[in-house]
Amino acid sequence: MDTTLYDFGMIGLGTMGCNLLLNMADNHFAVVGFDINRVKAEEFEASANPGTVVKGVFELPAMVQQLKKPRKIMMLIPAGKPVDDVITNLLPLLEKDDIIIDAGNSHFTDTLNRIHFLQEKGIHFMGIGISGGEMGARTGPSIMPGGDETAWQQVKPILEAVSAKVNGEPCVAYMGRLAAGHYVKMVHNGIEYAIMQLISEVYDILKRGAGLNNDELHNVFKSWNQGELQSFLLEITADIFTHIDADTHKPLVEVILDKAGAKGTGKWTSQNAMDLSVPIPAIDMAVAMRDMSIYKEERIAAAELYVNNIKKKNVDKEKFIRQLHDALYFATIISYVQGFALLHKASSELDMDVPLTDVVRIWRGGCIIRSALLDSFYAVYKKIPDLTNLLLNKKIARLVKSKEKKMRTVIRLVTAMKIPIAGFTSVLSYFDAYCSGQLPTNLIQAQRDYFGAHMYQRIDREGMFHSEWQPLPEHAKREAGA
Ligand code: 6PG
Repeated sequence: MDTTLYDFGMIGLGTMGCNLLLNMADNHFAVVGFDINRVKAEEFEASANPGTVVKGVFELPAMVQQLKKPRKIMMLIPAGKPVDDVITNLLPLLEKDDIIIDAGNSHFTDTLNRIHFLQEKGIHFMGIGISGGEMGARTGPSIMPGGDETAWQQVKPILEAVSAKVNGEPCVAYMGRLAAGHYVKMVHNGIEYAIMQLISEVYDILKRGAGLNNDELHNVFKSWNQGELQSFLLEITADIFTHIDADTHKPLVEVILDKAGAKGTGKWTSQNAMDLSVPIPAIDMAVAMRDMSIYKEERIAAAELYVNNIKKKNVDKEKFIRQLHDALYFATIISYVQGFALLHKASSELDMDVPLTDVVRIWRGGCIIRSALLDSFYAVYKKIPDLTNLLLNKKIARLVKSKEKKMRTVIRLVTAMKIPIAGFTSVLSYFDAYCSGQLPTNLIQAQRDYFGAHMYQRIDREGMFHSEWQPLPEHAKREAGA
C-alpha cells in the first residue's frame, strides 16, 4: 500500500495535464494524476523522470485519499459540462478548505457561478489561465491565477516553481478577484487571435503579392524575429515554412486547408467587449476572418463570379518588405492596446481589480503572445498602472508614429492588389477613430432623434434635447393650437 502523501493532484492526463504535472514533479513536488483511462494513467506514471515522485491513478477516490490537506486539485479538461461533472464527482470526497482549480479555457461566467456554488460548501475554487501550449506546460508556462486569495497563497509556491521565468522572475501573479484568471486568459487569447490574423495577412501579401517562396518567407520571418518584432508567434511562423509534408514532399503549410478552427475564447473576448462597450475591432475582425475561412465553397464561387485575381504591383521587394515590417509592428501594438483597454475597463466593471502591470509582466514569458514589445509596455505600466489606453502614453505614441506612414503605404498598396487585409485595415481605422477629436457621431445622434426622438446632447449646453425635425402636418398644427 502506497503511503506517500502527494502535494498536488491533477484531473485529466491529456497533453497539458501530463506535462504540467511532470513539470511539478521535476520541481520536487510529489504529484498524483488521475485519468479515467487506465492506460493514460499508467503511461503518465511511466513517463516520469527518475528520482521524481509521480503516481498515476484511474479512480478518483484513490487520488483524493493520497493528497496532503488542504488538498490541491487541478482540472485540465475540456471546458463546459465536463468541469461541472468532475466537480459533482469530487464534492463527496472533499473536506472543508480543500482547493479545486480549473485551469482549462472556461468561460469566466461559468467560473463565477462555480466560485459561488463551492464557496457555500467551504471549498476554495480558483479559475486559472495557463498559456504556452504543450511545450510551455512542460518547461514553463505563463500562469494567470485569479479568485480565492487564500487558495492562491497555498498554491503560489508550486505555480511559481513551474512557471516560465523572465530575468529570474516567475511568470505567474495574482490576476484579481472572482473570475479574473479566466478573464485575463480570455483576453490573452483574443490578442492571440488578432496577432495571428495579422501574421497570416503578411504571409498572404508576401506570397501572393510579392511572390516570395517558402525559403524567402522563412528568411523574412526569421530576420524579423531577431529584431524589434521578436515574438513567439513570429518564431513559430518562420519555422513552419521549413516543414515538408512526409506524404507529398511539398511544404506542409501548402497542403493545409485554409479553414481555421476556434474553440471560442476569441469570440468570447469580442462578445464581452461589446457588453462593456470597449471597441476591440482587431480581435472582432480576427474572429470574423476565421469564420469567413469556413465558407470555402462559397469563397471559390464568389472568386469566379467576381474574377477576383490578385493584381501584382511592381514594387521594390526589399523596400516593400521593410514597409511591411513596420506595418506589422504598428498593427501588433494596436492589437495589444485593444486587449489592455478591455482589461482596464473589465477590471472595474466586473469588480476584479486586475493588476495590469502584473498581467503585462507575466505575459513576457511562457505564453503564446510573449514578445519584445511587452517589455516596452511593461516599462509604461510600471509607471502608470491605471492607464486607460496605452496609445495615450507619449513613449508608445513615439513608437506608433514612427511606423504610421509605412502602415498607410502598405494598406494603400495592398488594397490595390486586392489582397484581403481586414486585420490591418481594422487596426488603422481604430487608430484613426481613436485619434479623432471629432467623429461624425453628431449626425448619428441627429438621425436617432429624427426617427425615434432618442434625444441628443449639445456642445454648448448641458442636458438632453429633442427637436422637431419635420414640419408638423396641418392637422397636427391645428390640434397643437398653432
Ligand atoms: C495558449 C493557447 C491555448 C490554445 C487556444 C487555441 O495560450 O496556450 O491560447 O489556450 O491553443 O485555446 O484557441 P483556438 O482553438 O480558439 O484557436
